[in-house]
Amino acid sequence: MAEERTALVTGASSGIGRAIAQRLGAKGIRVGLVARREDRLRAVGKAIEGPGGQVRLFPGDVRDPRLAESAVREVVKTWGRLDILVNNAGIGKYAPVEALPEASFREQFDTNVVAPFLFTKAAVPQMKKQRSGQIVNIGSVVGYLGTARGTAYVATKWALRGMNECWREELYPFGNKVAYVAPGYVITEFGGRREDPKSPEAGWALTPDDVARAVESVVDQGPNSDVREIVIQVRDRS
Ligand SMILES: NC(=O)c1ccc[n+]([C@@H]2O[C@H](COP(=O)([O-])OP(=O)(O)OC[C@H]3O[C@@H](n4cnc5c(N)ncnc54)[C@H](OP(=O)(O)O)[C@@H]3O)[C@@H](O)[C@H]2O)c1
Repeated sequence: MAEERTALVTGASSGIGRAIAQRLGAKGIRVGLVARREDRLRAVGKAIEGPGGQVRLFPGDVRDPRLAESAVREVVKTWGRLDILVNNAGIGKYAPVEALPEASFREQFDTNVVAPFLFTKAAVPQMKKQRSGQIVNIGSVVGYLGTARGTAYVATKWALRGMNECWREELYPFGNKVAYVAPGYVITEFGGRREDPKSPEAGWALTPDDVARAVESVVDQGPNSDVREIVIQVRDRS
């Protein structure tokens, strides 16, 4: 059967979001790409279009409510529907609680919690109308525990998991599914790191595509299945 689905992926310019967009795009799912760095977004778009995929680019800041509304509106206008929303864009800054600037705390909540709320709020009317849709929230293993210096980032991933639980209960009567995908350490530019497959971490850490595979399994689950969460630990935890 021809692939008719469409998706919107936030934070698609690098790391996990790029890998998710590429994996979905390679399946023939039409993908809207959201992030601030337009040059990066264009490169991801080209990589998907090369073998025949279809994309739309939505450069901008996920903290801007107008971006969520316009991206959803344009995806629906272009392709007629919205089947998958991946709330992936995120930032993480660790600091001792007494040294954590209030502005940093707020920035992390605005990006990791308020933005997924805005995109979900914008997507849900269409998904309810369709009586089908899959929302995937990219959380973290720290959404289940506490860490020193993690006041802001760890709390955002707990908050996202809390919203995930609420949306599951609120939206399943409308045929909509919501899942939390929680990776451990992934080699990306996250937190100012470098995405370097030759780095020493490459021997044990997850790759962005490890996470993309989990997301693919969520979007391809059977009709009576409703995956709640996938926790992806690194294999070697020694
Ligand atoms: N790497 C890990 O170890 C790890 C582990 C668990 C969970 N995660 C989660 O995975 C998600 C993706 O992170 P990553 O590891 O792939 O890091 P990354 O390579 O730094 O990617 C972050 C993405 O989010 C986008 N983004 C950040 N702030 C944004 C904003 N205000 N507006 C629009 N886009 C924004 C970035 O794009 P622009 O800068 O171009 O805007 C980029 O595409 C995050 O939610 C993170 O919490 C990561």
